[in-house]
Amino acid sequence: MLTTMSKIAVLGTGYVGTTTAIMMAHLGHSVRAYDKDAKKLKTLMSGQLPIYEPGLEGYLNQSLSNGSLVLADTLAHSLESAEFIFICVPTPSAEDGSADLRFVLDAVGEASLHLSKGAVIVTKSTVPVGSSEKIAAKLARTDVHVASNPEFLREGSAVEDFLNPDRIVVGAENRNVAQTVADLYGSISSRVIVTDPNSAELIKYASNSFLAIKLSFINEMARLCEAVGADINDVMTGFGTDSRIGQKFTSPGPGWGGSCFPKDTAALRSLGEENSVDLQMIDAALSSNLSTKKHVVARLRKNLGGELSGKKIAILGLTFKAFTDDLRESPALEIAKELVHLGALVTAFDPQSKKQQDFEFELADSIDDASLNAEALLVLTEWPEFREANPEQIIRAMNGDLVFDTRDILSENDWTHYGARFVRMGKK
Ligand code: UGA
Repeated sequence: MLTTMSKIAVLGTGYVGTTTAIMMAHLGHSVRAYDKDAKKLKTLMSGQLPIYEPGLEGYLNQSLSNGSLVLADTLAHSLESAEFIFICVPTPSAEDGSADLRFVLDAVGEASLHLSKGAVIVTKSTVPVGSSEKIAAKLARTDVHVASNPEFLREGSAVEDFLNPDRIVVGAENRNVAQTVADLYGSISSRVIVTDPNSAELIKYASNSFLAIKLSFINEMARLCEAVGADINDVMTGFGTDSRIGQKFTSPGPGWGGSCFPKDTAALRSLGEENSVDLQMIDAALSSNLSTKKHVVARLRKNLGGELSGKKIAILGLTFKAFTDDLRESPALEIAKELVHLGALVTAFDPQSKKQQDFEFELADSIDDASLNAEALLVLTEWPEFREANPEQIIRAMNGDLVFDTRDILSENDWTHYGARFVRMGKK
């Protein structure tokens, strides 16, 4: 089905809002995006992204030049005759782990006066179960609808995920309204799930939490493999080929992080508590993830003779995963901080971490710089450029021979060939 052009407003231009606005414009809609941060809007207006997201800048420039995307300088301007208003403002964790709806409700409250009759407010940000009701109450307008359309975009592959989603979920009290939201994606071929608002909101938390549980389990299996002398790669291939389990999202690592999994698992746990439902799997995944990060530090220490104090450690990768500049809840950053805390002299290199960031350790300009005189090289993010590192040169420049690759990105054979003592997750 071809997309019929609709007028869309996008409120908030963070990761979710920027991608939604640009890609909705790409689908042929007339989009106006607004953010309280004028600097972000100015950056977008100049054809640049305020975030790092591969492939998105091309679509931005296309939609700016054909006029399908406009950066609105006021909220009122963005909402002028808008039929669909995508709410993409942050939903941070409150002190108790629950999702804080303040920014969403503020945006809805401010928007309320400017909305046209029949407009649909669509929550795109991950919002707590029950938010649609709260939004409707805040709106206090019977002529405006509310729908939930959770995003399933991964940072680093947001464009690909937007264009080829596994599913499009829309929840609304009125199923016809939900269908009009689903129709905005007309030219995208995907399974569409139309449901009630609470189910739509819960689908998002259940998805992220299940994936977090899956990774915690993989990381535990990796530790078991190290202990019993098995290899997680073979074990994973062996049990992942059972189609009920699957091979995707099964790479062990230094722990899961980012702006979504930690926040969403905490929010789901808090929802369980509020409703007196004991969500034991979530608790287990959270504490297991902590153990994974501790395990990386312990294994590094063990391989360096039981002492980290005064040892120079070169870290490769600080972002929570590759293809993003996002450091939020990054396991790499937490591990780096812990090493500093234990007296190690850390020098890190990351292709995306900005120089101006105030780290508690040194930032190097290259892999070579970071590894100079290091006793160990610790890979914490799976940036493909780390594969280009020259093992011969680096081992020679190091003051030790330990290479601990927590992401299985380097070639073990190449590195051991040049004398590295190579260690990876899930193998003794
Ligand atoms: C996640 C979900 O995958 C998206 O579907 C969702 O839309 C998004 O959260 C969100 O809620 O907005 P994202 O946080 O961008 O996306 O990152 P993921 O690619 O899911 O990775 C999460 C963490 O798991 C990272 O720390 C990553 O390194 C780790 N991971 C992922 C592994 O350790 N192994 C894997 O095999 C995959």
